[in-house]
Amino acid sequence: MAGIVCIGIQWGDEGKGKVVDLFSERFDIVARYQGGHNAGHTVFIGERKFILKLMPTGILRPGKLAVIGNGVVIDPAALVAEMDMLEAAGIDVTRSLRISNRAHVLLPAHRMMEKMSEGRPGRVSIGTTSRGIGPCYEDKTARRGIRVADLLDRDTFRAKYDDLMQEKIAIAQALDIYEDPDVARVREMYEGFVERLRPMVCDTVLLLNRAMQDGKSVMFEGAQGTMLDIDHGTYPFVTSSSASAGGACTGTGVPPTRISGVIGVAKAYITRVGGGPFPTEALDGAGDQIRQRGNEFGSVTGRPRRCGWFDIPLARYAAEINGLDSLVITKLDVLDEFDNVPVCVGYRRGKQTVSEIPSTVGELGEIEPVYECLPGWKSETFGVRSYDELPPKAKDYLAFLENRTGVELGCISTGPERNQTIVKSGSRLEKLVL
Ligand code: GDP
Ligand code: IMO
Ligand code: MG
Repeated sequence: MAGIVCIGIQWGDEGKGKVVDLFSERFDIVARYQGGHNAGHTVFIGERKFILKLMPTGILRPGKLAVIGNGVVIDPAALVAEMDMLEAAGIDVTRSLRISNRAHVLLPAHRMMEKMSEGRPGRVSIGTTSRGIGPCYEDKTARRGIRVADLLDRDTFRAKYDDLMQEKIAIAQALDIYEDPDVARVREMYEGFVERLRPMVCDTVLLLNRAMQDGKSVMFEGAQGTMLDIDHGTYPFVTSSSASAGGACTGTGVPPTRISGVIGVAKAYITRVGGGPFPTEALDGAGDQIRQRGNEFGSVTGRPRRCGWFDIPLARYAAEINGLDSLVITKLDVLDEFDNVPVCVGYRRGKQTVSEIPSTVGELGEIEPVYECLPGWKSETFGVRSYDELPPKAKDYLAFLENRTGVELGCISTGPERNQTIVKSGSRLEKLVL
């Protein structure tokens, strides 16, 4: 056990928070490597519910180190709010959290730019979380971004910030979307966060690599999901970072040779928030039934999640890109009442049948899913903790997913809490995380 990546393989909200929290017990460090406060990872610990956005899930386990890697974009206001929430719950954040000095700083002006790109007539609206994530990554890639190390140095921050704001204001005025960004007030507010953050900021690349050299284990926690990955997702309806397994290396500075396993998390069905293609979306009453039973409303924006059926070609694609060793299927219990459970096993495109998910939005619009209908189990699986206790038809459903995806099914989640979980004994997953 050394470096294990845990990622979502659909369009996010697969239950990564629950799964990472559960497995992090056996790891020394949990590191986030991409995204920002667009993520919402829900974790229940007994009666207590936490929704983590920027914070690595390991922060909830005493004695673990939580690392925000260089690939993350940080809104300091959001981070400080999350620190306050956790500290009020008795967690010593300053002791447990380390923040990369190379991570990029998200500014209110990024939200202004996003509002412009999402709202402008003629532009394709992505249906983002409106957190400014995309524009912050734009500045990073354009090499004009502000990094945490810059924020800590007053003169550097002032110069970079004022320069960047001049540019943003010029663009906003030219596009007639100018909202007074109150440059001086925001500058002061950001300078005010510095002393709170400083004790936790360090070179996390060194920290992680040295820790691994010393035999410490790291769980790399993905945010979003493979189909929202900037390169591999349903572009342009994606987020602006590398949400798949490869991002763990670029987003932390830990080399691929230190990654020893990749675990993919998927729901027993599938959901998506925001716009973009979704071949297996259930636009009938079944979609509503999943939404109600699964409480499928965004944990960041509260938007109703679009719901649909498990998509095998999509999962196979994710297995390939991420090199999945094992699969965790969550929210099996949500399907307990269905008479039949359709699973997409391929697509029809005109007269052709295809087994691979197409790579462009245009082609995705031309395909129709081909379903195989499996009989529902019509009995309660909520909270079941042993594989043997699952209804036979639920086992058949899971075996079908395992066979058709070609990836071992190592773990099944039957409820939001830690103990509502089945880890299959003798599985590869058990060896990777237990
Ligand atoms: P994440 O972004 O991948 O961490 O997922 P979210 O936290 O946004 O959404 C998953 C939701 O499903 C959360 O509210 C979890 O508490 C809940 N959840 C996770 N696993 C299960 C499960 O097996 N059954 C049920 N009913 N809920 C679950
Ligand atoms: P977790 O980590 C689900 C979606 C947004 C939008 C697209 C781009 O909780 O799984 P962005 O604000 O990132 O530029 O929005 O990505 N999105 C998510 N959907 N779960 C998430 O995170 C998401 N983070 C972003 O809805 O469609
Ligand atoms: Mg989420």
